[in-house]
Amino acid sequence: AAENGLAAWLRYAPLQGGEGYHSTLPSHIVALNTSSASPVYVAGQELQQGIQSIYGKQCNVHHSYYSASSSVVVGTLDEYTKAYGSLSTTPDLIEDGYWLSTEGNTVQILGKNERGALYGTFAYLSMLAQGNLTKVAYSSNPNAPVRWTNEWDNLDGSIERGFAGNSNWFANGVIVSNLTRTAEYARLLASIGINAVVVNNVNANASLLTPQNIEGLGRIADVMRPYGVQVGISLYFSSPTSGVKGQANLTTFDPLDESVVAWWTNVTGQIYQQVPDMAGYLVKANSEGQPGPLTYNRTLAQGANLFAKALQPHGGIVMFRAFVYNNLNESDWYADRANAQIQFFKPLDGEFDSNVIIQIKYGPIDFQVREPASPLFANIPKSNAAIELQVTQEYLGQQCHLVYLAPLWKTILDFDLRVDNESSLVRNVVSGQRFNHSLGGYAGVVNVGTNDTWIGSHMAMSNLYAYGRLAWDPTLDSQYILQEWIRLTFNADQSVVNTMTQISMESWPAYENYSGNLGEQTLTDILYTHFGPNPQTQDNTVWGQWTRADHTTIGMDRTVSNGTGFAGNYPPEIAAMYENIATTPDNLLLWFHHVNYTHLLHSGETVIQDFYDQHYAGAATAQTFATMWESLKGKIDDERYYDQLFRQVYQAGHSLVWRDAISNFYNNISGIPDAAHRVGKHPYR
Ligand code: GCU
Repeated sequence: AAENGLAAWLRYAPLQGGEGYHSTLPSHIVALNTSSASPVYVAGQELQQGIQSIYGKQCNVHHSYYSASSSVVVGTLDEYTKAYGSLSTTPDLIEDGYWLSTEGNTVQILGKNERGALYGTFAYLSMLAQGNLTKVAYSSNPNAPVRWTNEWDNLDGSIERGFAGNSNWFANGVIVSNLTRTAEYARLLASIGINAVVVNNVNANASLLTPQNIEGLGRIADVMRPYGVQVGISLYFSSPTSGVKGQANLTTFDPLDESVVAWWTNVTGQIYQQVPDMAGYLVKANSEGQPGPLTYNRTLAQGANLFAKALQPHGGIVMFRAFVYNNLNESDWYADRANAQIQFFKPLDGEFDSNVIIQIKYGPIDFQVREPASPLFANIPKSNAAIELQVTQEYLGQQCHLVYLAPLWKTILDFDLRVDNESSLVRNVVSGQRFNHSLGGYAGVVNVGTNDTWIGSHMAMSNLYAYGRLAWDPTLDSQYILQEWIRLTFNADQSVVNTMTQISMESWPAYENYSGNLGEQTLTDILYTHFGPNPQTQDNTVWGQWTRADHTTIGMDRTVSNGTGFAGNYPPEIAAMYENIATTPDNLLLWFHHVNYTHLLHSGETVIQDFYDQHYAGAATAQTFATMWESLKGKIDDERYYDQLFRQVYQAGHSLVWRDAISNFYNNISGIPDAAHRVGKHPYR
């Protein structure tokens, strides 16, 4: 029964009445590559398996030119042209792009490269699995070249902020011998256009670089390569002084020291011996206790370029994280963690090598339920940029709450930063289009584990699916993506699609309402778990996720005129909008302004009453999820039905805990009663 979860959206479930379509489906598969390790070969097998499983039709697979009127031909455009001659019009393809035509007698699936051919194959199979046999002919190109996942796996097998068991690839300090699950994961990722996986935690461990582990990385790369998925790794900045077994041990990790440069050049060479197509390095430096170049008074750019130069001859790239900040003191009214990225990175724009990409979390703080787009996207036009999204729900219910994240991500991707008063959508910044860069893209923190659902819950896999689909095409609609995923993962029954759509689309607004609305951020435990309500931990800590709530007022003043100045990090049109309380949207009010609890919102309600009302409304919505889910009994398999029902019942209960904890906390601190007389009542009083 584990197959249900492991196959995720690639189940190829039999379609009712599938036999009826046999004459319109291909009878032969031509996959134009003879090597079983090639993505085109894999595409051929995938087509055979999919058509057999969905429609019950058996096809033969050929690996060179084969003439049959009823066939599907998959390969690179070049190989196809050699075998079959040119197409009447040559499709306009970039790396990883594909051409798919089901018009005429032969289905053509042609990639710019092998990986593109596999992507086109999955696009075709997605249509077939949804019972869609309409005639199409189109080319599809990725929005950005970098479409990676980051996995925060530790070498001991644990996973930081992972909620689905242990690592699939590390245990006891080394890479495991059985990598079956790794191959299965690569297959899933390929089907949504992901082209690399950074396999270890950003809080990295130097012992990843032992010769034994480098050999292990080679094995991981070998099982993922047939799916067009490359390996990347996170580096520990001070590895040269960490006594890595089998490597030289230095007395310095200064990025400008010649011995350090030689060390990294050497180790990088060793890695490329084992992994000739290694994607690159991910680096978290001088952040949250991680070592970095600042120790030696070198800039972050000098630190990033150290790796860029080592990787450059091999074609690898450095994803250098912008998540750098120092601990601050709340008693300083002008202190603001949100300003840190701008302070660190803006002055360095233009100093990063061309194979460095600055990887920027979507908001200026840390994966909160609502944040404004990071202003860094507008402030480093000379640097390549990527957006970091979090698929694992660290602050957002940790897979115990259903929260469909695509609508949240879209608020950032579609946000117009108005650089130079011109359209500057975040998605056009990270695609490279806005500032003319050829590198850029997406990093999604996924943290899959050994759990049979991969990520911790069946429904949470919609977030991984949506992540891949948006990295390929960020203009896709959240609900459209969701429904595609529902039909593939469960079935196309209209009531199944409608019910799951309603629950999912209402889930992020509901979670925002019962956790922390008005731009207050997720009022969760900041100190350790990041789970469950704990509003008192926000303030009086060094973490800088402050609310500055006292008896009469609440919110962070981030204005230029009177606060931390953060609003001024945006280009003028956006800065003006956030500077002024009248033009700041209600959902970010407390992110930018410090106001009285009795301040009137645009909605006409007071801040405190809206707090109460939205927490009650959010929790009330979460109650309906469980009931709606119950209507699916018998319409999907029992295994997944009961598994998710358990979670929906939990979410219903926990949303009440959230509602009461937050409402009571602000009721106590403000002393302002709830106009509807719900808050502050004790059942035994
Ligand atoms: C968050 C998260 C950490 C993680 C960090 C990061 O703060 O809680 O576990 O290491 O982000 O992204 O580096």
